[in-house]
Amino acid sequence: MKSAIHRKQLLSLAAFCTIGFATLTASVTPSHAAQDGPKTSWPEMSAERGKDLFTERGCVVCHAVNNVGGDIAPSLDASNMDQSRNPFEFFARMWRGADEMLHLQQADLGYQVDFSGQDLADIFAFTQDANMQERLTQSDLPDHIRDIIDNGPSIPAE
Ligand code: HEC
Repeated sequence: MKSAIHRKQLLSLAAFCTIGFATLTASVTPSHAAQDGPKTSWPEMSAERGKDLFTERGCVVCHAVNNVGGDIAPSLDASNMDQSRNPFEFFARMWRGADEMLHLQQADLGYQVDFSGQDLADIFAFTQDANMQERLTQSDLPDHIRDIIDNGPSIPAE
């Protein structure tokens, strides 16, 4: 009988410890989780710089914005961006067009366009900013880009 009580006491002590430990763990876990979760870094985005990149890097050869640019590919007006407000969606859609884009870039520009992450962030910002897009005019097109739009590729496609 004595030993039965003893066992009961031990069991409740064990239960107490388990619950206590669980409570302690629970209160500690969230801060651990915050430290162990994805570590991301988000760039500052400049739609104004994106506007320059959009023309200089040649997106505008195939995609129009504010009626400036080519019509080979869909226009990238902010008003049409409902499905691409999220940057990951935007670049997922761009990736889907990658094969065609790379072939056309090679043919129209003669090279594959290279970007930094910051460049892409700024271009994305430009595609989302209707006010900045309204400022894009024909006079923003660099000469060599205007030449490709008007006269086709300088380097013939293979
Ligand atoms: C040489 C032509 C060309 C150039 C240059 C080009 N693209 Fe494209 N882009 C395309 C084509 C073609 C598609 C595929 C269109 C389709 O699938 O209907 C496409 C698709 C896209 C899409 C997906 C559009 C949608 O509605 O799903 C995005 C976003 C995009 N391009 C962004 C860009 C950006 C940003 C640049 C400049 C860095 C760029 N493209 C340069 C031809 C081009």
